[in-house]
Amino acid sequence: MSFRADGQTALDWAASYLEGVRERPVLSGVRPGDIRALLPGSPPEQAEPFAAVLRDLDELLLPGVTHWNHPRFFAYFATTGSEPGILAELLTAALNVNAMVWSTSPAATELEQLVVDWLAQLLGLPRDWHGHIEDTASTSTIAALAAARTLRPGGAVYASEHANFSVEKAANLVGLEYRTVPVDDEFRMRTDVDLSDATAVVATVGTTSTTSVDPVPALVEACERGGAWLHVDAAYAGAAAVCPEHRWALEGCDRADSLVFNPHKWLFTPMDCSVLWSRKPEALHAAFAASPDYLRSEEDALNLKDYGPALGRRFRALKLWAVLRCHGRGGLQALVRGHVRLAALFETWVASDPNWELAAPRPFSTVCFRHRSADNEELVRRANATGELFVATTKLRDEPVIRLAIGNAQTTEDDVRRAWEVLRESAG
Ligand SMILES: Cc1ncc(COP(=O)(O)O)c(C=O)c1O
Repeated sequence: MSFRADGQTALDWAASYLEGVRERPVLSGVRPGDIRALLPGSPPEQAEPFAAVLRDLDELLLPGVTHWNHPRFFAYFATTGSEPGILAELLTAALNVNAMVWSTSPAATELEQLVVDWLAQLLGLPRDWHGHIEDTASTSTIAALAAARTLRPGGAVYASEHANFSVEKAANLVGLEYRTVPVDDEFRMRTDVDLSDATAVVATVGTTSTTSVDPVPALVEACERGGAWLHVDAAYAGAAAVCPEHRWALEGCDRADSLVFNPHKWLFTPMDCSVLWSRKPEALHAAFAASPDYLRSEEDALNLKDYGPALGRRFRALKLWAVLRCHGRGGLQALVRGHVRLAALFETWVASDPNWELAAPRPFSTVCFRHRSADNEELVRRANATGELFVATTKLRDEPVIRLAIGNAQTTEDDVRRAWEVLRESAG
């Protein structure tokens, strides 16, 4: 195998893929089991050339790929594995570092500390918090709740009925009872609730269905009074805070105990990359530190394995560093502003068509709306089956609504216009 020649081919493949992704059907149309049925059931006895892997990727796997890097991917939260991040992933694999303790690769730990500090500056968060990178917001929230439990074992975790399912999973995992709090008319967590037995309260800045923003300042007050840990889930909307005009969304968060933000959602970083900050790192340490003999080190240095569930840690800081450097604050702001502008434009089209209505306020780049008389779930199935776009549905007050989430760096006004045309055509 020639690494250089195969590498050149793989890079060409990636470049052509990104250049041509717009022409592909966004959503894979295969049925469960279709892809597996095409693949040999047992591993090869003899080495195969890398070219065979690329060929099968093209011919067998691509029909079963949903193209998350497609400019008309508007489902869930639209994301971008941007080019600096893609290249840095290649370099990360080449280095194959395991950053479990400082001494297993000092540059990985120190770069991680640098990029989480850069990110805190970009989002206007306190710079004196501890921060580190986890794989996903699910893991970051598990870590935050495990830390909270060291301070107050046995209480409950409260979160809005619109909190992401990962919060309930995390509460279950750390053995804390999970209680949901109703939302107000704008899908924000209500604050007229007794939180006195809370071990932790999870506020969401950018809920998954509507991107509503829970009232963090009021929740901070309640948690400070009752002695509960306040964890903020800003997995998606944290990115908006790179723009000063969206900083309001993080108001009060400087007084939270922990906050998670996913650069792999709306900050152009390939999966996976989730940053967890906390102003109480000693509680994370109490939950996770362990020093078996085989990992003792001489140096007085930060060992990040002591602050989260995993021992083995990928060198994720490299791709985040590449993304932040190669876009710069100005580049990130331009992308986020562009997405918010497109969402606002789409919102005006919906609002001015009597057959359609908006279903929730739009704080950022995600629009919730519905057709007034059609079966919205069926309409979305028809629209997605065209291959021209991918939108998802959610339910608000038991009614299906359509979500259009704009977050891909290549999405243009024409893409959003085309999505609106396809949706209108699909309404019949
Ligand atoms: C608000 C919010 N929090 C957490 C998550 C879970 O993120 P992850 O997939 O990184 O665990 C999501 C996923 O969409 C989300 O929307």
